[in-house]
Amino acid sequence: MQALDENILEKCRSAKRVVAITGAGISAESGIPTFRGKDGYWKSYRAEDLANFESFQKNPILVWEWYQIRMEICRKAEPNPGHLAIAKMESLYPEFHLITQNVDNLHPRAGSKNITELHGNIFTTRCTKCTYNSTLGSDSFPLPPICPNCNSILRPNILWFGESYDIKVLDDCIQKLRSADLLLIIGTSGQVTVPVYLAEEAIQSGAYSIEINLDRSTLSKKVNVHLQGSASEVLQLLMVK
Ligand code: OAD
Repeated sequence: MQALDENILEKCRSAKRVVAITGAGISAESGIPTFRGKDGYWKSYRAEDLANFESFQKNPILVWEWYQIRMEICRKAEPNPGHLAIAKMESLYPEFHLITQNVDNLHPRAGSKNITELHGNIFTTRCTKCTYNSTLGSDSFPLPPICPNCNSILRPNILWFGESYDIKVLDDCIQKLRSADLLLIIGTSGQVTVPVYLAEEAIQSGAYSIEINLDRSTLSKKVNVHLQGSASEVLQLLMVK
């Protein structure tokens, strides 16, 4: 990665209201497979085959086994310099908000506090019937786990394919995106409609937009600048304040 253009650095230096949208690419350097990369399979299943309510209803144990393996990978992974750079941005900018599609908990572990985990957090669970929800510790548990309140099956507290986003959460993100003067889009392929729509809200409202990705994505043509490189490397170069 060569030195960054002074114009880009100046946009970062002068920004006041910054929103970052991250995807699986930022955690790839922590050893967590991306969704659509070559390692995004378990046994013969793709994420899409398991991360949906129908599959869970058919075979909750199979889906939970997959989540237990993923939880173990996330637990062993460490936040990388990309996650740390984003956490530090909260103290560099007057307003900073992170919207992540990742459920791996690495942003919170890196210290990010102003964060929306758009698709949930893998270490949380909720009841399929009642309002019970809880955080999962590192102890193993029998599968499927059962709700202590109503004896129904507990499910991962993750937004699955085909499920609706929380409107209040989306509204809150949209407000922040509409007033942002700098948008960073990091390590996402832009294959999921809602995160793309959110990025477009900021772009259309006039935010200067920078994409950081190893490859091009569906958003590359829409942003002001596409920076090709690894998230951790490029984010460290952007830390210019
Ligand atoms: P994808 O697996 O679709 O895309 C990962 C992106 O990261 C690709 O564009 C890669 O080029 C890029 N990438 C990989 N390594 C990188 C690195 N070191 N530095 C920078 N970029 C890198 O993952 P997402 O776009 O996050 O949703 O997928 C979005 C959503 O799709 C997920 O949250 C999940 C899935 O369906 C739900 O489960 C609802």
